[in-house]
Amino acid sequence: MDEKKTILSGIQPSGALTLGSYLGAIKNWAELAESYDCYYMMADMHTITVRQNPADLRRRTLEQLAAYIAAGLDPEKNTIFIQSHVPAHAELSWVLSCYTMFGELSRMTQFKDKSAKNADNINAGLFTYPVLMAADILLYQADLVPVGEDQKQHVEICRDIANRFNGVYGEVFKLPEPYIGKVGARIMSLQTPENKMSKSDPDQNGCVYMMDRPEDIARKFKRAVTDCDACVRYDVKEKPGISNLMQIYSVATGKSFADIETEFAGRGYGDFKAAVGDAVIELLRPVREEAERLIKDKAYLESVYRAGAERAERTAMRTLRKVYKKVGFVQR
Ligand code: TYM
Repeated sequence: MDEKKTILSGIQPSGALTLGSYLGAIKNWAELAESYDCYYMMADMHTITVRQNPADLRRRTLEQLAAYIAAGLDPEKNTIFIQSHVPAHAELSWVLSCYTMFGELSRMTQFKDKSAKNADNINAGLFTYPVLMAADILLYQADLVPVGEDQKQHVEICRDIANRFNGVYGEVFKLPEPYIGKVGARIMSLQTPENKMSKSDPDQNGCVYMMDRPEDIARKFKRAVTDCDACVRYDVKEKPGISNLMQIYSVATGKSFADIETEFAGRGYGDFKAAVGDAVIELLRPVREEAERLIKDKAYLESVYRAGAERAERTAMRTLRKVYKKVGFVQR
């Protein structure tokens, strides 16, 4: 019997992947393959809660797949798939929506934020988004869901939904735990360090993209917002810009905050920002080069997502069949 615990996570191909997506998510995933049974998806169905250009969505989904592999996710060891290729996600999502309360969805921070940002398109999908995410997780009976800090609430509501369902029908779903890295779980914008670095941020200077050229990365870090204290010290409240740069430098180099404070004691912010830029350039360089190579190999990418969908579907259908039986649907 397979004793390995299961992991599921995903990223929306709603924009180019950022340093936040990399440090908060993908970088950690690559290290888990040996010890866990891992499922990683391109959450394309979630993206259409906000209007997407179809051609861009298709392109970004494949670019994201190339980036996953380039960042070290071996398709032989991880099941990598496109969410919309496994219909069980939409099907379980419907069932779970009947076990999710209007009130609990109304309390989701991300729904409140996104509906404020998309006031002319507050569609039902935006509201039920966490139910689809719960289906993503529960279909695979995931033990752990590696995410950044901003997705923690969605994993919690997933547990609540699973618990409610299990309360009625017995132990159908495993209750998942969020798995949040110690550093890098909340990378902030370089321009407005009070806000998280986001794929959909219109201010490109605040956001470092995984595929950015070295010169652009260097320029963005050079212009990063700091403070007038001229001291490299970790203090999120008083020094959000510097603390964010310290986080990034720490994940990129493995150095502790204390080491970083010593390294830059008595030196100006200019030196520090250049050092962070260089560290990020070197961190991302091999990933970008490999992703650029892979994106040209359409046949290979297709073989990966096809095999991934088949494997994912096998697992997902086991759970869906069980759920349909439990709720009383007649078997075909
Ligand atoms: P998404 O696409 O917004 O982000 C993908 C992952 O990256 C993390 N992340 C960050 N981490 C640190 N700092 C940042 N600035 C930063 N920005 C993003 C996010 O926390 C996330 O882990 N709903 C999800 C996608 C999803 C999913 C799932 C995740 C769909 N189904 C099932 C886990 C399990 C989302 O929108 O993530």
